Amino acid sequence: MLMTRLSAIACALVATVACVTEVRAADAAQPEAAALAASESQIPNPSLLTPYKDQQPIVLVVRDARKPEVWGALKKFWNVAPVESVDPSTGEKVTRQGVFIKVPLGLNTAPSIPAENPLTAEKVMLGKKLYFDPILSANNKVSCASCHNPQLGYSDQLTTSTGIFEQKGGMNAPTVYNSGFNSLQFWNGRAASLEEQAQGPPQNPSEMHDGKGNAWFKAVERIKAKPEYVKSFARVFGTAPTRDAIAKAIGVYERLVLTGNSVVDRADLAMRERVEEDGGGKLEPNAADYAKVLKAAIAAKDAEALSALTLEVGSEPAKVSQVAASLANGRNLFFNKARCASCHVGDNYTDNAFHNLGVGAKEGQWVSADLGRYGAQPTGHKDAAHVGAYKTPGLRQLLSTAPYMHDGSETSLEAVVDLYNRGGNLNPHLDGKMRDADSERDAAKAGKSAVIPRKLLLTPDEKKDLILFMRGLQGDPVDALISAP
Ligand code: HEC
Ligand code: HEC
Repeated sequence: MLMTRLSAIACALVATVACVTEVRAADAAQPEAAALAASESQIPNPSLLTPYKDQQPIVLVVRDARKPEVWGALKKFWNVAPVESVDPSTGEKVTRQGVFIKVPLGLNTAPSIPAENPLTAEKVMLGKKLYFDPILSANNKVSCASCHNPQLGYSDQLTTSTGIFEQKGGMNAPTVYNSGFNSLQFWNGRAASLEEQAQGPPQNPSEMHDGKGNAWFKAVERIKAKPEYVKSFARVFGTAPTRDAIAKAIGVYERLVLTGNSVVDRADLAMRERVEEDGGGKLEPNAADYAKVLKAAIAAKDAEALSALTLEVGSEPAKVSQVAASLANGRNLFFNKARCASCHVGDNYTDNAFHNLGVGAKEGQWVSADLGRYGAQPTGHKDAAHVGAYKTPGLRQLLSTAPYMHDGSETSLEAVVDLYNRGGNLNPHLDGKMRDADSERDAAKAGKSAVIPRKLLLTPDEKKDLILFMRGLQGDPVDALISAP
């Protein structure tokens, strides 16, 4: 900073063009502390904000089994309707135009929303613009959507991503679908929120940063040079564009990238309705429940849902019954014999925890330089049980997001099931749930301590049904208001 000031004084004395560029270069490399702080966050000026009465709050409406009619009355994803509120600055009642979002069937809770970053329609649209804009990259060529493309399952369908200057990264890009439900972000969980995650790529030299100067300071400067952005940030945040506001807007956008209403979700609902009608019974969808929703999909000409299951609008009833029976069997395998639900649980099919399946292990050893969750744990909190452990991904939309696993090493669902069928890849850190405890105990009694993978012993038909069940988790496409650039 002292250097900058001295050279500014020198420049004032001589005032040559060369001096001006020199100061600019110095600024870019090392912004002054005050300028840097202002580019990171600013306290909002309420007079710049969109007036309270014109703000459009977003209300996420989840299907509540006790009063499903509220959700059922919403015909689309995005519904504009009046909301009664009290203006906090005047204490007066106002009626505003809000947006009621119909959270897709199968998502029985709304993603949690940080108190400091409420959802508004204007903020979502600003976040969407930033998400698709390469302006966050140093060469103006890479956007979030380059690697998380709505047309490619909000991922890039590459083994590992290609970033700025065509550089290859080391990880498979996870999908943004339903990422608002993740308790931690990244394969190793190193970001605690979508807002924190969004600050990574612009300063990552293999993703969006050219390695020169302070990446975020420069990105904010580029955005501040666009009058439309300056206007939007003032209206939405009451500040100039800042890193804090950019991260918030992108986080809010991602929270609305919601997918559900798969055939599996529809059959779960059909089952609940049947059990209620019968006055009791097992809460487990059967072949008849699947057949019912498949017939409904045929009647509704829902080609998207049908094609995921190798069906079409003109499929023969016999074929439909056969698919329904396979789905029921696949579901049963998923929750029982194949033990998938011991990690892939809940509405988004993840326990939000970290496990070592041996993806990255070779010949019984952990050979990858990446240590998974262990690598992200702070010094003083390292847990050897987490070497090579990665976050359990959700299992919706798998047909759009191949290849699979943190390194993109499994190219098909068949290959994934084969991995599980052999008990994962042997290595000293294999997750407890992947191991055969009985055989390990027997080995210990015989004086041998060993990690023994648990084989699933699935037959070829069982593998097919299990895969079909995963295909049945393919949901409706994300609403175009969110997914279209
Ligand atoms: C060059 C490709 C690339 C770009 C550009 C990129 N990402 Fe990613 N993204 C990845 C990869 C690869 C990962 C996984 C990295 C890891 O876990 O270490 C990832 C992880 C994520 C995750 C975590 C998802 C999860 O399930 O853990 C989110 C959310 C995300 N990115 C959003 C964004 C946003 C928002 C932007 C723009 C600011 C962006 N990404 C830019 C490739 C990219
Ligand atoms: C011990 C916990 C655990 C069990 C049991 C488990 N999974 Fe996984 N699953 C994971 C983790 C962790 C990953 C990511 C691993 C990695 O990338 O290293 C994963 C990844 C996947 C993926 C890839 C998804 C993607 O987007 O890359 C699929 C598909 C999958 N599992 C399906 C299944 C099926 C089917 C079963 C049952 C046969 C199953 N899982 C059992 C934890 C588990």
